[in-house]
Amino acid sequence: MGMTPPANRHSPDRQNRDYGDCARTCSGDAIPVVDLGVLLNGDAEQRSQAIRDLGRACEDWGFFMVINHGVPEALQEAVMDACKELYSLPREEKAEYIAAGPKGPIRVGTGFFYSDVDDTLCRRDFVKMIVHPEFHCPAKPAKLREIAMEYSTCTRGLLLELAKAISESLGLDNGCISEALNLESCFQILVGNNYPPYTGSDGAMGISAHSDHGLLTLLFQNGVDGLQVKHNGQWLLAKPVVGSLFIITGDQMEIVSNGRYKAVLHRAVISGEQTRMSFVSLIGPCLDTFVEPVQELAQEAPQGMEFHGIKYRDYMEHQQSSKINEKAALDIVR
Ligand code: SIN
Ligand code: FE2
Repeated sequence: MGMTPPANRHSPDRQNRDYGDCARTCSGDAIPVVDLGVLLNGDAEQRSQAIRDLGRACEDWGFFMVINHGVPEALQEAVMDACKELYSLPREEKAEYIAAGPKGPIRVGTGFFYSDVDDTLCRRDFVKMIVHPEFHCPAKPAKLREIAMEYSTCTRGLLLELAKAISESLGLDNGCISEALNLESCFQILVGNNYPPYTGSDGAMGISAHSDHGLLTLLFQNGVDGLQVKHNGQWLLAKPVVGSLFIITGDQMEIVSNGRYKAVLHRAVISGEQTRMSFVSLIGPCLDTFVEPVQELAQEAPQGMEFHGIKYRDYMEHQQSSKINEKAALDIVR
């Protein structure tokens, strides 16, 4: 990784990809909105409507926004600010995290690099930390620890509630997915992303097209758009409604739901003028859990069992150690 693009390793068509053009021409207006307040506290009728809407959002999109989510704005700002301080620390202060491999509990990356997934040139600074079942956090900036701890607890609670509601939306018991995946010991990571403005003509992306390896991801950004999701074969720019957070369904959701709910493909483009920042909280099954489709869902599906199952730890390892285009990581369990 470095601050200037590395020597050209790209496929001949890289110069011709125009990710920004798609962002200008597609609109994200139709992205579903789920009201968590109604899901948690609505009366029976409101709740069952909200569960149906949630199910449709997972089935048709694998991507939606949540409102009335209970994550304080001040906490979102605080976690973003603390990451901003971390990005601007001198390199020596982050060296041990920069040297950490994909399995390291804390990883920092900075500059240009080729995507592990598909060789796309990317420009991104990031900090990634495992926060559950064990909590890890960089030592500096000092304030990050407390804020990241609070943010991880708060967002884990929200995502676990969503997992229950999604379970219901599949016609299962509220706790079915949580039990199948041992979510009380769920794997959780926080990831801060920083994409400085870039106007190079080499087609660099922020992060290239991928699906998330986990169950559910919550994401917010600093007011600068750049997240695109693939919907009905088209890349759409995701524009959040005020006060909302994005939810992305991941590969484990696709497996456990026997393919009824799809892990959505998404990517981030870089702005030519503004720094874009995003912050991610992702939960997945307990690392040692063998993840397979819920039996009831496989039995009622005409095609039977879509996936044969895998331990989450092995799935992640496979995804991180192979060059995988888009969603091909799921092929290992098909
Ligand atoms: C991600 O998919 O991890 C990040 C996407 C974004 O920056 O919006
Ligand atoms: Fe992602």
